[in-house]
Parts: sequence; structure tokens; C-alpha cells
Amino acid sequence: MVSKLLALMMMLLTLSQGAVEAYENEMSLGGNLFLVNRDYALASTYAPDDLVKPKVKGVSDGTMMRAEAARALEEMFQAALDEGNHQLYAISGYRSYNKQNVIHTRKVRQVGKAAALRVSAPPGCSEHQLGLAMDLGCKTSMHLTESFGQTPEGIWVAENCHRFGFIIRYKAEWEEITGYAYEPWHIRYVGAEHAARIHELDIPFEYYVASLREIQYARLTGEKE
Ligand code: DAL
Ligand code: ZN
Repeated sequence: MVSKLLALMMMLLTLSQGAVEAYENEMSLGGNLFLVNRDYALASTYAPDDLVKPKVKGVSDGTMMRAEAARALEEMFQAALDEGNHQLYAISGYRSYNKQNVIHTRKVRQVGKAAALRVSAPPGCSEHQLGLAMDLGCKTSMHLTESFGQTPEGIWVAENCHRFGFIIRYKAEWEEITGYAYEPWHIRYVGAEHAARIHELDIPFEYYVASLREIQYARLTGEKE
């Protein structure tokens, strides 16, 4: 992991000042790189203002995403069909703070607090509230289980979602960093440029954002010298 992070830092150091400034906006609330986890929570009042229903196969009419992410999802679903005859299903996209609260509270009741925290974000701590996450399924794995990662559809998603700006957010080996168990079905939109880097280096989103912040800080303090 250290060598991957060094490679990322070296690459980021070659970026222009303009690119670094643009990334700052991306990391702010409303940007594609906004980090949400159990350490960085959203206000209960936060809701994106550009939610749309992606035109893809899905189980619920309420499956929404932010507009840019929804367009990317549509392209990805079409490519999955065209390239591998893979039919994906959109199962759960945007979830409000209150909806996440209901889901999380139910999970805690079912399996206890510690087990629930591995698989379900407390309200305010879910990327679904950003409108930039989507849970996927396929005909043989519609219930958000690890089996999705072994299906041809899940394998295709893992290998290709970065081309459309998505990352697999929760890998098994990253649980200590992300706080969540393996979720091959949960993809997060970050934009194609960032998704390509994260995919190539195979690093958790937390590390990517931390590296960008360090570069920004270095540029800022360098300018003052
Ligand atoms: N299952 C993911 C961690 C969420 O609840 O957002
Ligand atoms: Zn999810």
C-alpha cells in the first residue's frame, strides 16, 4: 500500500495548480469527491438538488441519483449489455437521512449494533445520502449479498465501472479503513478521471482523498514560503 500511495503522490505532484484547485471543489459538499464515512458525516438536512431517476432496469421507481451520476450509470448499463450481454439492475440509489435512519435502526434490531455497523451506515454516514452511490444486482443475485461479486455481471462491474466514473467502494481488504465489510454491489460515482486512478492503484477512496488534501496543503504552504 505504501508504494501505491507514493506512486499516487508522485503523479499528483505533476498536476497543474489549476487542476489541484478544481479538485478542491470536487472534494467540497456537492462535488464528486466528497468523502462520507463514519468519521465524516452529512447533516440531516443535506439532500442533493439534482436527483433524477436513471433510465435503467431497476426494482423501484424511487431509485434516484444525481444527474451526472445517473447519466454515467445509464452508459454503464448499456455497455454491460453491449459488451457482455450482462443485465444489471439498480436496486438502491439516493437515500435520505431519515430513510437511512430507518434502515440502520432495523439492522441494529436484527443483528445487534456491532454487526450492523459493518454493513449499514448510521444516518448521515451513508454515501447513498449524497446521491452518488448505487447498489446493483443481477438476475442471480438481487439481494445485495457477496455472491454478486462472483457473478459474470459483478465481475464485469468490478473490471469496468471505473470507465464510467464509478469505484467499488468497499473491498474486503479495506474494511479497517472504510469501516465496512465487502460490498461488491455498492458503486460510488467519483468521475472518470479519479475512478481510473483509484482503479489502477487499487486504493481505498479514503486514501485517495487524503493524498489530494496533502498535495493541496503542500502547494498552499509552498506558496507562502
Ligand atoms: N451499506 C453501506 C455502507 C451504507 O449503508 O451506506
Ligand atoms: Zn450501497
